[in-house]
Amino acid sequence: AQPVIVAIDGPSGTGKSSTSKAVAAQLGLSYLDTGAQYRAITWWMVSNGIDIEDPTAIAAVAGKPEIVSGTDPADPTITVDGTDVAGPIRTQEVTSKVSAVSAVPEVRTRITDLQRSLAASAERGIVVEGRDIGTTVLPDADLKIFLTASPEARAARRSGELKGADVHSTREALIKRDEADSSRKTSPLAKADDAVEVDTTELTLAQVIECVVTLVGEKR
Ligand code: C5P
Repeated sequence: AQPVIVAIDGPSGTGKSSTSKAVAAQLGLSYLDTGAQYRAITWWMVSNGIDIEDPTAIAAVAGKPEIVSGTDPADPTITVDGTDVAGPIRTQEVTSKVSAVSAVPEVRTRITDLQRSLAASAERGIVVEGRDIGTTVLPDADLKIFLTASPEARAARRSGELKGADVHSTREALIKRDEADSSRKTSPLAKADDAVEVDTTELTLAQVIECVVTLVGEKR
């Protein structure tokens, strides 16, 4: 069979990662979390004292860190210059700075090249999740999904069991990040014209997975 390429885009907290990993595992495909790559380069910038308010400084060193993503959906690893950064890229500090770093065109070119070569080398195909996969990175993907959900549902999912003020501040931070990602000049978060939009607000994770698996089946 021909390799199948699936692009899954959408804002934070819509279930992109859980859905993408499960679909890839179920169909025996590779998996790539492109948000983890932007987080990894952001972690490197922060660790090396680069001023993230200074796009010129970021652009000057965008080619320096070596970012390697493992594409097994059961064990999606991420390293920077050989160091496992799976934990450190999820801190609040990295989360609050990633939108500024990922808006720099030199950063996007660098990371987009990595994404395309990983997609091209996936023998059975790949599920790639992000913000600009269907529009920019893999415009010829066999299937494009755009996941959405209400801000309330997204904040609740992100903050897990936390209650009260935490859900509120999570919601504010999430909306701010989506606005930054949607309004940047270079490949903003956007639904591709030929993407299938799935509103996950009232759906369980199992239902979203089933929906995407069915759509992939129709394309094969
Ligand atoms: O998916 P995740 O929330 O981990 O993504 C972190 C950040 O990485 C996003 O808020 C966005 O700034 C950036 N990103 C991007 N393009 C992608 C994937 C993520 O700019 N394809």
